[in-house]
Amino acid sequence: MAIRPTGRVRAVLCGPFEERWVASLEARFPDVDFVLHRRLADAVAAGAGRGAHILLSAGGQAADAFLAQADDLRWIQTTSAGVDGIVTPALTAREGLVLTAAKGIHGDQMSEHTLALLLALTRSLPTFLRQQARREWKRHTLPELRGRSLLVVGYGAVGRSIARLCRAVGLHVTAVRRQGRDERGGDAVEGVRVVTLPALDEALAEADYVVLTLPLTAQTYGMFGAERLARMRVGSYLVNVGRGAVVDEVALARALVEGPLAGAALDVFAEEPLPADSPLWDLPNVIITPHVAAASPRYFEQVLHLFADNLERFLAGKPLRHRVDVGAGY
Ligand SMILES: NC(=O)c1ccc[n+]([C@@H]2O[C@H](COP(=O)([O-])OP(=O)(O)OC[C@H]3O[C@@H](n4cnc5c(N)ncnc54)[C@H](OP(=O)(O)O)[C@@H]3O)[C@@H](O)[C@H]2O)c1
Repeated sequence: MAIRPTGRVRAVLCGPFEERWVASLEARFPDVDFVLHRRLADAVAAGAGRGAHILLSAGGQAADAFLAQADDLRWIQTTSAGVDGIVTPALTAREGLVLTAAKGIHGDQMSEHTLALLLALTRSLPTFLRQQARREWKRHTLPELRGRSLLVVGYGAVGRSIARLCRAVGLHVTAVRRQGRDERGGDAVEGVRVVTLPALDEALAEADYVVLTLPLTAQTYGMFGAERLARMRVGSYLVNVGRGAVVDEVALARALVEGPLAGAALDVFAEEPLPADSPLWDLPNVIITPHVAAASPRYFEQVLHLFADNLERFLAGKPLRHRVDVGAGY
């Protein structure tokens, strides 16, 4: 099936997009009718899938319902980098449907957030904040990041940005990719040693810090279970800004109490919001942030820029950027 339909094109946009941004899309693409909804569920309720060729949206439970309405759908652009909420059996079964993800727009905020977490863990900020709340003046010696080793697991757009910033503060960086054969590698980051999946466990045992920037796929689900966590260095730290279900949280809590981990910083969880009875909330050596590593006031405007670039390609019949390999799940 040719990706571009004949005649007028209908695009349904779901998200907190400002009217003026959509107006500029309308001016730039006069052959496209844009329909704006705040949430995908609202679009489904309004029957917006009927006649739609393009969907721009986050994933979520309404995605299958939209798909069921949208017989003419040719392309879905997600507003997130991860597509785990949108690659359902119904989507996989739909022939000729192209899925693209919002990649390459998270690097600045994700790398800054990750560096903040690494520094907070290393410079004992949770301890000092607790002391401050008690008006307590108590000093102890602290190490620095410079000269220590960092392993980035998942070396795509996000992993590379983190590696670049962490190199700048003097960390020795190794990165793990799945296969490392395609163009996903992008620009090389100077001084980063890149290995593939079979070398993961060896690299893990050598790292003072491990940062996970993996997509959630059939292969990565539960990848950091008890056995793998036990391979980490005594006194090392784990930071997860990828997807929560990559880590077995029960095994992680145990590794944080019994070793080998000295601490962890987590932005993502198997279930979000993190349930109130999760043991992770109470551990003094854990920093929790509520899935905000990619947050930025510019976020949805950046998504629209990326979408507009791909829309131009769609209309010209050219290959779209950041296409998801639905079989691999990312
Ligand atoms: N916390 C947040 O708010 C937030 C924001 C943005 C993204 N994320 C998460 O971060 C993930 C990565 O984003 P991205 O834009 O960097 O994606 P990306 O460019 O697609 O990169 C994914 C990387 O993971 C590697 N990978 C995939 N499966 C693997 C496996 N089984 N073992 C080892 N490496 C594996 C890939 O290896 P190859 O290079 O060999 O293909 C690639 O290097 C997203 O999928 C999303 O889940 C979270």
